[in-house]
Amino acid sequence: MGFAVDNSSTFNYKVVRQFALVTVLWGIVGMLVGVILAAQLIWPDITFNIPWLSYGRLRPLHTNAVIFAFGGSALFATSYYIVQRTCQVRLFSDKLAAFTFWGWQAVIVSAAITLPLGYTTSKEYAELEWPIDILITLVWVAYAVVFFGTVIKRKTKHIYVSNWFFGAYILTIAMLHIVNNIEMPASFLKSYSAYAGTQDAMIQWWYGHNAVGFFLTTSFLGMMYYFIPKQAERPIYSYRLSIVHFWALNFTYMWAGPHHLQHTALPDWTQSLGMVFSLILLAPSWGGMINGIMTLSGAWYKLRRDPILKFLIVALSFYGMSTFEGSMMSIKTVNSLSHYTDWTIGHVHSGALGWVAMITIGSLYYLIPRLVGEKEMYSTRLIELHFWISTIGVVLYIAAMWIAGVMQGLMWRAFQPDGTLTYSFVESVKATYPFYAIRLLGGVCYLSGMFVMAYNVFKTVQQKRFVDAPIPALQAAH
Ligand code: HEM
Ligand code: HEM
Repeated sequence: MGFAVDNSSTFNYKVVRQFALVTVLWGIVGMLVGVILAAQLIWPDITFNIPWLSYGRLRPLHTNAVIFAFGGSALFATSYYIVQRTCQVRLFSDKLAAFTFWGWQAVIVSAAITLPLGYTTSKEYAELEWPIDILITLVWVAYAVVFFGTVIKRKTKHIYVSNWFFGAYILTIAMLHIVNNIEMPASFLKSYSAYAGTQDAMIQWWYGHNAVGFFLTTSFLGMMYYFIPKQAERPIYSYRLSIVHFWALNFTYMWAGPHHLQHTALPDWTQSLGMVFSLILLAPSWGGMINGIMTLSGAWYKLRRDPILKFLIVALSFYGMSTFEGSMMSIKTVNSLSHYTDWTIGHVHSGALGWVAMITIGSLYYLIPRLVGEKEMYSTRLIELHFWISTIGVVLYIAAMWIAGVMQGLMWRAFQPDGTLTYSFVESVKATYPFYAIRLLGGVCYLSGMFVMAYNVFKTVQQKRFVDAPIPALQAAH
């Protein structure tokens, strides 16, 4: 016979702590696979021709690990923390929250087994086969119940802006996941998509682009809107701007997907529509960046001393840079140069390493000590070190890819006066090698930073109090 424990006067920090700690682990795993990929592009035989470790199988493992395992766990951790603190109540259900943790880890482990074995739907960022898709759906519904249930039972009057961003991401990802994964199972680990041809491509990139828009952007803006004001100890620059850019961002993202299919069999007007919406998207994207950065007005001096704030603000700068770049790349004439080249890979990683990973790292440095009853991380100097090696890492990575990408695009389209190609394809591959070496170096820097973080986190959580924090009186809101 057990006693019912009344824990309604405390926050549920256990699930936040679990998700926060696995974020660091999955970050290391996912980025390590990225480094192996980068090495394979220089030395193709580096994994001894073992099929499970071949480039084609490790690549989806990398994208799934960094986006869904690292990014996903970070989002669960921060959204659960923020929704409790800003609503001043404990999570709606401890049991369902625990289910989301273990369920999500089961999804990650299943992905880590099936992808190297070669089981895949072949749809980018939606490679996992149908039984895993069903598990994802169950976890996601539970997530929605926990999150929105907590918002509904809140004690505060208004719903803090971060929760709007998290809410939009949870709802949209549910819709995208279900629609893009409608498929007919042929056996336990093989299925066929319900869509074919151009429709399949359009649905896939409606999904793919909004996965970027909601899984890698809207949600992380939710994170940004809590941790930047907290760490800077200033209110958000403009609450009104946050609401305007929230609605504009969500509306506009939905229509931009066709920019992934420029110059294809997709009807021409659809491609142009995708381009126009991508250009419009720059405005709400920069609205978010400006709102975050301007939150520091009057407190710029804090940037000099505080490496956590450096992570958060530099993340926003990369967000501004990658969204500007994305809007430019969606212009048809620019895309005809950039598509298929490493420029796209540079764009991806200025968003992924610069924005997504840096905002996550900064937020975790704020969050983790608070989850173990401490005020600060074990070492601020190690955070500073981490900041510099990861910044150098991203810059090496993206600068190398930009140069390589533009060079490839120009080489592929160079003609002789008699109409023959100036360069064979393999010449462009050869010319890219030095840049692949620089990218590898950048990746190794970034990964080393993650190890520094793991050590700092380990020292911080060692022998600390794993207790749930009391919910403060309403006045001391979040
Ligand atoms: C140490 C850090 C990392 C390294 C060295 C790395 C390396 C790589 C490499 C070599 C590729 C394949 C490029 C190609 O096929 O030409 C790749 C693809 C990709 N990576 Fe990373 N990566 C890292 C971190 C991340 C992170 C943190 C994210 C996301 C949060 C990410 C997201 C992606 C995505 C989405 C792709 C596919 C891009 C596309 O298909 O256009 N990566 N990465
Ligand atoms: C205003 C915002 C943005 C716009 C308009 C935009 C636009 C684009 C364009 C035009 C491409 C190239 C499509 C192609 O030629 O294949 C692309 C690729 C990509 N972008 Fe962005 N981008 C934006 C922001 C971001 C951000 C913030 C991230 C990451 C956090 C990101 C991640 C990606 C990824 C992963 C791909 C590669 C998809 C693939 O082919 O696998 N984008 N984006």
